[in-house]
Amino acid sequence: MKILSANSNLNLANKIADKLDMPLSAMAVRRFADKEIFVNIDENVRGKDIFIVQSTSFPANDHLMELLICIDALRRASARRVTAVLPYFGYARQDRKSEGRTPISAKLVANLITTAGADRVLTMDLHAGQIQGFFDIPTDNLFAGPVLREDIRENYGTDKLMLISPDVGGVVRTRGIAMRLGADIAIVDKRRPKPGTSKVMNIIGDVKGRKCILVDDIVDSGGTLVGAAEALLEQGATEVSAYCSHGVLSNGAADRIASSQLKELVITDSINQPQKVLDAPNIRILSIASLLAKAIRRIANEESVSALFD
Ligand code: R5P
Repeated sequence: MKILSANSNLNLANKIADKLDMPLSAMAVRRFADKEIFVNIDENVRGKDIFIVQSTSFPANDHLMELLICIDALRRASARRVTAVLPYFGYARQDRKSEGRTPISAKLVANLITTAGADRVLTMDLHAGQIQGFFDIPTDNLFAGPVLREDIRENYGTDKLMLISPDVGGVVRTRGIAMRLGADIAIVDKRRPKPGTSKVMNIIGDVKGRKCILVDDIVDSGGTLVGAAEALLEQGATEVSAYCSHGVLSNGAADRIASSQLKELVITDSINQPQKVLDAPNIRILSIASLLAKAIRRIANEESVSALFD
């Protein structure tokens, strides 16, 4: 097997390679003057089991295109099997027709990855589990839950702990972590008057005197978490922190989080972060390199991936 990385998250790819005790294979991803992408795989991959790591994070379209072109290059170089490892699968929020005459971009992106020549996909915390079915190739969807859960246990304990789903769609995810911590859950009834803005309508559950932890798959503008934290504190929560799998953190989100009432935001390294986020006083990053490395090893050895979560 060999592991390669395009440009979106070399830090994570290097950590995964370290855990697998192998170097990243040499590959160059360059831009022509007009920004077209050109890929050169600098070592023989004929007959190899290839894992190509690339999150389709900001700039999403460039990173997606890099991935597609890398897969094409690997196919044409006669790799035996190509697994697209997407620690963060972007476009996932466009997973249904939210209104008339709109696309289902998550399905389109799944088709593009398949058509480019990927044999399988390895990803983590898809926005909606059913996106797995958008791919007509085997797709493993890992959960950051165990990593987040152990960090919560270590840093917050379980006394007076309450886990909060910031919207109805996140209840299953939140309950999964809460059950294993023996914690109660509450739910934020959130509305989106228009894309990019969110409004808290109600809190379902009694959060008075509780140490609250919001659990979400994505933090993007931070609006959902900041609004939820305010509402929870108003309802008597003693403190509010948040754990999210994917730190999209666009458009001044790091500043918004820093000046909010959130005690702390914990994200994973599924998306590489700029210095501004690394320097943020109340944002902490957990690595999922070990989880991904174990899953890659299991796929290469034709072993169960779900056994990682037993
Ligand atoms: C939405 O359903 C997702 O789970 C997140 O809650 C959302 O993407 C967060 O967005 P923002 O940080 O912009 O409020």
